[in-house]
Amino acid sequence: MSPLPDGVPGEASRRAAELRSQIEHHAHLYHVLDRPEITDTEYDALFRELVELEARHPELQTPDSPTQRVGAAPSEAFTKVRHRTPMLSLANAFSVEEVEAFRTRIQRIVAGADRFVCELKIDGLAISCTYRDGELVRAATRGNGVEGEDVTANVRTIRSVPVRLRPVAEGLPTEIEVRGEVYMPKRSFAALNQQLDDQGKPPYANPRNAAAGAVRQLDPAVTASRGLQTFMYQLDPPGPAGSQSEVLELLGRLGFRVNPHHEVVDGSGIAAYLERWGDARHQLDYETDGVVIKVDSRALQEELGAVSRSPRWAIAYKFPPEERQTTVLDIAVHVGRTGTCTPVAHLQPVRVAGTTVQRCTLHNEDEVARKDVRVGDTVVLHKAGDVIPEIVRVVLESRPAGSRAWAPPAHCPECGSELVREEGEVARRCLNPLCPAQRRERILHFASRAGLNIEGLGPAIVESLLEEGLIEDAADLFRLTKEQLLPLERFAERSAANLIASIAARRTVPLHRLVNALGVPNVGEHTAAALAVHFGSLERLVEANEEDLLAVEGIGTTVAGTIARWFASPEARTLLRRLADVGVRAAAARLGDGPWTGRAWVLTGSLQAMTRPEAEERIRRLGGTPSSSVSRKTHTVVAGPGAGSKLEKAQRLGVRVIDEAAFLEELGAAERAVPASA
Ligand code: IVH
Repeated sequence: MSPLPDGVPGEASRRAAELRSQIEHHAHLYHVLDRPEITDTEYDALFRELVELEARHPELQTPDSPTQRVGAAPSEAFTKVRHRTPMLSLANAFSVEEVEAFRTRIQRIVAGADRFVCELKIDGLAISCTYRDGELVRAATRGNGVEGEDVTANVRTIRSVPVRLRPVAEGLPTEIEVRGEVYMPKRSFAALNQQLDDQGKPPYANPRNAAAGAVRQLDPAVTASRGLQTFMYQLDPPGPAGSQSEVLELLGRLGFRVNPHHEVVDGSGIAAYLERWGDARHQLDYETDGVVIKVDSRALQEELGAVSRSPRWAIAYKFPPEERQTTVLDIAVHVGRTGTCTPVAHLQPVRVAGTTVQRCTLHNEDEVARKDVRVGDTVVLHKAGDVIPEIVRVVLESRPAGSRAWAPPAHCPECGSELVREEGEVARRCLNPLCPAQRRERILHFASRAGLNIEGLGPAIVESLLEEGLIEDAADLFRLTKEQLLPLERFAERSAANLIASIAARRTVPLHRLVNALGVPNVGEHTAAALAVHFGSLERLVEANEEDLLAVEGIGTTVAGTIARWFASPEARTLLRRLADVGVRAAAARLGDGPWTGRAWVLTGSLQAMTRPEAEERIRRLGGTPSSSVSRKTHTVVAGPGAGSKLEKAQRLGVRVIDEAAFLEELGAAERAVPASA
């Protein structure tokens, strides 16, 4: 960012005007359109520069300056609602020193105040839920802080938001407001982007935008399908809770989901918390962009009060952005199962947000051109949604002399046939149905986690099976014998037998897996699940015409057309016949059959996010067995606060023990992986 213009009022006023218009523009992109063009860090820097400039030249402060209001206006689509009390935002700190300055400031105002709650700052969007007589009557987005949007219908679809409060002993007023964060778990984010990609739609840049998009859907059914989650942290009025830590505890008892990683510390413990979570956060299934440090005592909070847009008793420490530079060693083209060619950057390995990255998709040739990524370039890399590596931009100053813009190949790198870019398509495609790359990718997709999930069948093995002429399509996998595998380089007696067994074990699979495995164009995991739920059997799906397909939730005319054409094609008919010949079929759906079949779960101690019967029911629906005693056969013990002898026994027996947060993450992931009916 450019330095502050010093002294010259003319220059200062020009810069202030410029900053205001930039901030307004980016705030609109961020809050209203959910499509920001700059990172939060860049936005914060602009905002901060303006705050500092106005502090230095108070005459520059105008009533309409973005520093004088809280956000941007809500869109027109939802009814506007006024918040009972404004939803404030927080002052930011970008270093431990700034947090220390916050602590000193507080202690200057109220001597001896040194008890803080550190909470993870969840990177989602703020919501406010109003309960009257224990019932959820309204949910609203933050909007500009004063006025938000009524999203009650959508928020009601989020399972962790109770529609009725659980009874607590304490007297609370008839109307209360609970505030917190709605977010999209990393896993749901990855699945959603995969689904959008299957449908040829642009992906969301990060889980925050995806969550905002989901909350602001006009159709609540769409919101419901997006796997949103919540963590709540504020209660107004706080009733009997005399501190923030008591508020969190009370919220848990009222039935809200509360982030378990909060901690009460004295001032000297803050730095350690920041240090620990700066790293550990990448292991969580949700994005955090910092830590919120709050004065614990409510009485002190009131004494400290608020200044214009933020309370004085809290501060948001922002983690430094996870961006790293590396070099592009090559730009290769990957041919997918439908012949779609995707440029992929091969990178000098670099560690970003917890993993080593050496490859990164560039999506399509327009994207390469837009970012002008070239071989030899130094690039800034980050992870979208903390998961998917992405090139943010090229560092032009470091570009080697004589480098040339990347040009997509005219021919398929694997079979040499001419690549075609059809009108309206973003990708070039190899149209040769016999292309070895497509064949390999189709088989890999068939065996992948989202497909039949055949353990031990990776790219190298599929490649060598194809090379040796042992298979031609997915059906051939089921005809392989141990004797055929043994002469291959990577097999010995045991590994060959294992692979044959794991293939055989997947002859009968849930319908949604089989449908996804087929590799129908435009059909990803999500659509496959919808098709499975709707038709119930492969036979009925195969016979479905376009009109039947249109009746499936979430399928429009384009996708219906592609699916119907694919099932009618000779290739599809052949594949289906050959799969039937080797005995591959969909399992009849049985209640209680699922990814957790055969697993005994023991719940001990107290749960915050749900009641015990609720947790047991959800375990059962996934095929698992809730059990009341721990033995060597127990799969997992979920231990909450107050866990005693069962926890000890589990530890003695070496049984896996997890906390409630981990349980919720596993539960959510398993539920998303299995549609309600399969
Ligand atoms: S407290 C009056 N706690 O960060 C204070 N906020 O810049 C209200 N956020 O708008 C906020 N996690 O959307 C608080 N544990 C947490 C939070 C949190 C995320 C968001 C929230 C707020 C923004 C503040």
